[in-house]
Amino acid sequence: MVFIGREREIGWMRLYLEHEANKILAVTGKANCGKTALMQEVMKRLGATHTFFYLDLRLLDVSAPEDFVKVLLYLLRLARREQNFIRRLFNGSRFEFSVMGFKVSRDVKFEDVLQELYLALIEELKKVKNPVIVVDELQSLRELYYNGGKKLIDSVLEFFISLTKHQHLAHVIVLTSDSTFYAELYSKSGMEKRMRFYLLDELQREEAMELIRYWSREYDVELDPEGVYNYTGGNPALIEDIVAKVALYGEFEDVVKDELRMASAKIKRLIKKGFSFKRIEEMEYEEGQEWVEENVLFYNVQKECFEPQHRIIELAWGEVLKVRK
Ligand SMILES: Nc1ncnc2c1ncn2[C@@H]1O[C@H](COP(=O)(O)OP(=O)(O)O)[C@@H](O)[C@H]1O
Ligand SMILES: [Mg+2]
Repeated sequence: MVFIGREREIGWMRLYLEHEANKILAVTGKANCGKTALMQEVMKRLGATHTFFYLDLRLLDVSAPEDFVKVLLYLLRLARREQNFIRRLFNGSRFEFSVMGFKVSRDVKFEDVLQELYLALIEELKKVKNPVIVVDELQSLRELYYNGGKKLIDSVLEFFISLTKHQHLAHVIVLTSDSTFYAELYSKSGMEKRMRFYLLDELQREEAMELIRYWSREYDVELDPEGVYNYTGGNPALIEDIVAKVALYGEFEDVVKDELRMASAKIKRLIKKGFSFKRIEEMEYEEGQEWVEENVLFYNVQKECFEPQHRIIELAWGEVLKVRK
């Protein structure tokens, strides 16, 4: 797996992980800007000194509160590196509904199950060297409720706050591309004392150019990195995508024209649906939300403004604006 640059960000993460656990680290950034890749790289480099527990909630398919119990069981199993322990945990207890082959009873309160798992996890984490829990795609928990209205995310955050701020037992890193969800966390009262917020930018210009050169070599196409960068910016996924398409279809100009046409078509279609459309910087929070849901815009909580998800969208947005004037 190719990984380019990000030395500054890795250094910053290293600092966070080398200090005593005290706050949850909440990382956001545009979709495909490289959050997961950065995290994987940090785990690789610090694997000798820290014990990472990486949970990708999208991969683990968390779509109901019970699924999160599965995640906690999985985490426990990782921490314990054995199955029998979990059997013992539930053996003879009142739990009966079945998750991953373990029976948990339906009439047991969901929060009791959570509580029992949290406590068991705390005991296990105490035995592990520098534990770090990484939860990718945290927004998967956003709309999950238990006991008719309690938010699962609140319970999970309380648990993470206990692991960091209260017990200094484990570091916790949560990642999400969902800027609306992130904005909610950001504005939760008291959160600034419990969470460190970190917005990961796209690749710097030089890093992007290096990646363009890398993919050009891999796909065996000749491209002017400067020219490609004008259409991709520092979005690593977009860079690979465009270089790959050039390898497949031939001309760079045709490929970007096509990308721009598709992005413009999407924007126009959404305008027809009634989405408000103006200069991105002038978009009000409520107006921008629907564009965020459609993955066209990203809400930057720190600057309190919307930004295009990537360079092609920025260019397409500009073109549609020009035509409509
Ligand atoms: N620093 C990097 N160097 C090379 N490729 C990268 C880098 N960061 C991300 N990528 C690639 O870009 C794509 C999107 O990155 P990913 O980490 O999945 O984004 P995110 O998690 O922010 O949505 C992946 O294919 C990933 O391998
Ligand atoms: Mg990711």
